[in-house]
Amino acid sequence: MEMYTRRLFACLSLLMFSAALFAQPSTQPDRFPPGLYPDRIILTWKSNPATSIAVTWRTSTEVTKGQAQIALADPGPDFVEKAAKKPAQTETLKSEYGLAHYHSVNIEGLSPNTTYAIRVGDSLRWSEWTHFTTAKAELAPFSFIYFGDAQTELKSLWSRCIREAVLQAPKASFMIHAGDLINNARRDEEWGEWHYAGGWLNFKIPSIATPGNHEYSYRDAQNKVALTPHWRAGFTLPENGPKGLEESCYYVDYQGVRIVSLNTQAYLFFDQDSVSQIQWLEKVLAENPHPWSVVTMHHPVYSSKEGRDNPTIREKLKPIFEKYGVDLVLQGHDHTYGRGGNIPEGKLYADAKGPVYVVSVSGPKMYDISLGDWMYRAASNTQLYQIVQVDAQRIRYEAYTVTNQLYDAFEIRRQGDKKRFVDEAPNLEERVEVPQVFKNLYHDSDWKEFKARYAAYKAKTAAIVRYRKPAKNKK
Ligand SMILES: [Fe+2]
Repeated sequence: MEMYTRRLFACLSLLMFSAALFAQPSTQPDRFPPGLYPDRIILTWKSNPATSIAVTWRTSTEVTKGQAQIALADPGPDFVEKAAKKPAQTETLKSEYGLAHYHSVNIEGLSPNTTYAIRVGDSLRWSEWTHFTTAKAELAPFSFIYFGDAQTELKSLWSRCIREAVLQAPKASFMIHAGDLINNARRDEEWGEWHYAGGWLNFKIPSIATPGNHEYSYRDAQNKVALTPHWRAGFTLPENGPKGLEESCYYVDYQGVRIVSLNTQAYLFFDQDSVSQIQWLEKVLAENPHPWSVVTMHHPVYSSKEGRDNPTIREKLKPIFEKYGVDLVLQGHDHTYGRGGNIPEGKLYADAKGPVYVVSVSGPKMYDISLGDWMYRAASNTQLYQIVQVDAQRIRYEAYTVTNQLYDAFEIRRQGDKKRFVDEAPNLEERVEVPQVFKNLYHDSDWKEFKARYAAYKAKTAAIVRYRKPAKNKK
């Protein structure tokens, strides 16, 4: 108990610091000042990925009118002359450094499975041209990347994660960010670092982002906890969710998969946002015309950090996930890695009765691990990224350490009207080291608890039969 009190105190201190941090304009120089040329450029979707693309960027307030230009991509450079002009919506965002303009354009009416060239600017000062390809209109194989919390040291230590992930899956169709992209919701410098880390990758591969508690470490003019204004200014996302949760609770359909973003911070904070998301989730899953469904949300159904739990999420959302056969639930918040679920584990070909739950972490902020009953693969003190491949018959999931070592793998395979779960985790020693910051806090009783948890976890997972691909004969 003493341990939790110490940790709670540390968290509360951090929150108070965060609130205080934004009370005054910064006296520090702006490391990422807005200019006349576009920066923080990011591709997303507001509607159908097969027929649309959205793009958002930032400039100084001297740029009052933004514009995107789009053309069919062509090997010859003369496509530039044929580009269509699309005027942007512009909004002003105030940060600790002053004002900036955020411009956004949602382009509809595109052809499926077609590569376009796009650039943004103001008719005088332009970004580079970049290519993107619209989704196919029907179910077809593709892959995507999923990141847990980035949150801290975004330039220094998260950048390596997004870059290694994209080099591992350069043709990924999109990147999912499962909340806590930054630490202090309204600290512009952190959003500057987040965009620095992703750089032009964000203007190449569309993002699907869901907010976490740290996007809510802010109070609005009514002194109400609120989603940072950086969110809606900086991302152009769907508005097909419940009223009041536009661009944070929404779904996107991509080549046979319905991807649902739930706003768990609003769910936990506000009763009306909990009720509305439950009703909305039932509807979008019941009406899902696609064979697969993936949910991303910040707070996990099962926690992977010691001493944490989200019972109201588990009690209300888990039965809906099971009722509608959600395949994957991709989460964050706990700064550790855990994979498991309500699938009868330990059997090579077990009937999949519910989603596989994953908690992951992409940035360097690390917690101690729960090694709870639900977990069948675990890591702590390890930055990871995940690559998910989808086709008509299977979802293949792979987690990699930031040093590109395959750390976890499984498949959900469709066999008739059943889904089979196949555990393909590689045979390696799991990384469950207690992070140094927790070693400093641990007392003898904490070490005793940890060792007991670890022994129980090892005994449980030793019983699993994992599928290993036969080694290829070397000639
Ligand atoms: Fe969080």
